Amino acid sequence: MLKFQIGLIALLIGCVAFISCDQLVEVLTPAPPEDDMPGEMMPTADMIPTGYASWLSVTYPEPVGTGGVHGEGARTVYINEIGAIASQDDSVTTFPAGTTIVKEIMDDANTFVQKIATMMKTDDPMFADHNGWTYKKYARADENADYMQVKGDGLPDAAEGCHACHAAAPVDSVFVDFSMDDAMPDDGMMTDDGMMTDDGTMTVDLAGYTSWMSNPLAGPILSGGAHGQNARTVYINEVGAVALQDGGMTAYPVGTTVVKDIMDATNTAIQSRAIMVKTDNPMYAEHNGWIYKYVDINAESVEIGGDGVDGQQGCHGCHLGAAVDSVFAFPISDMDGEG
Ligand code: HEC
Ligand code: HEC
Repeated sequence: MLKFQIGLIALLIGCVAFISCDQLVEVLTPAPPEDDMPGEMMPTADMIPTGYASWLSVTYPEPVGTGGVHGEGARTVYINEIGAIASQDDSVTTFPAGTTIVKEIMDDANTFVQKIATMMKTDDPMFADHNGWTYKKYARADENADYMQVKGDGLPDAAEGCHACHAAAPVDSVFVDFSMDDAMPDDGMMTDDGMMTDDGTMTVDLAGYTSWMSNPLAGPILSGGAHGQNARTVYINEVGAVALQDGGMTAYPVGTTVVKDIMDATNTAIQSRAIMVKTDNPMYAEHNGWIYKYVDINAESVEIGGDGVDGQQGCHGCHLGAAVDSVFAFPISDMDGEG
């Protein structure tokens, strides 16, 4: 069961009856420190916003929904004044430009803040595809180390993976509900990804998969001879790649997609393509949620599943021997492991 601790809750309970929350937030929240960053300016700074520790915040002890991609540690999410005021309106559907959200994520043992993820709302058309949000993620090795940006805008892989998942959040790509009455991530946020149907089929969009994180292999590894002797490249989408950043992770999040292209004998053209997609459909529980399939190499979007686990028995029977959650080719450092 999740417990939520809301900053200033005692004060709030007392206050709500007397003054509006908008005023309250104004009273309690110091002026935002980043005066040099007006809302209409694109936040180019590769910098974690300063002074956020005094913003309105929500703390919760463990991930909610698909939030496991951000790690397993406790998290505190802060929102600046402009966003905090907007969030008090129950019917809010978009956050104003200038809204900044900072999320601190503890390491898995909850000893120090290991990662910081930020979302900043702009009205820059450059970010229109992301509803104006820019996403960044920073990490550090220990509590004395400097943060380095590891994901998000400004880096070559941009923030497509962040937004692809956040787009499903209940209010304008934001999962956590900052409103005073129930400040918690919305549990209904990710029931399924909406792509999965009752009969267990789903359509998987493979557009752009060649830009995903990849592991090129000159030939089979371990028992991979089942896929022939030719060269192959294994790609993993952003959801899976983000999860892999946590060295100790043991299960891929729902929505992870792994694509394997197997070349012809002369290594000049793709001969076949196998994919694995992680679901939370009980129909695939025996396969740890994975659906396996060889798919058409010319299709950008493929339909998989529907035949239950029986059609794929051979695949999982071997894949379950992989070191981490039925995937052999990642993490790359485990490749030479026992499998
Ligand atoms: C697979 C889904 C998924 C992906 C990918 C993802 N997030 Fe999140 N994110 C969540 C969920 C769910 C929450 C809230 C619950 C939690 O933290 O457990 C969240 C919370 C946040 C928050 C706090 C505001 C909010 O929406 O609640 C920030 C900031 C954030 N994520 C930034 C990022 C950045 C930056 C990236 C890319 C590097 C990213 N996220 C990738 C699912 C995702
Ligand atoms: C006898 C064992 C075995 C069987 C059976 C098998 N695979 Fe694999 N598979 C592997 C190994 C080992 C790899 C790692 C890369 C390589 O050597 O090709 C792999 C890689 C993959 C990958 C890339 C992700 C990863 O785990 O590295 C996909 C996708 C995949 N297989 C799909 C399938 C599908 C679909 C089937 C069933 C039609 C299947 N596999 C049957 C052993 C097997």
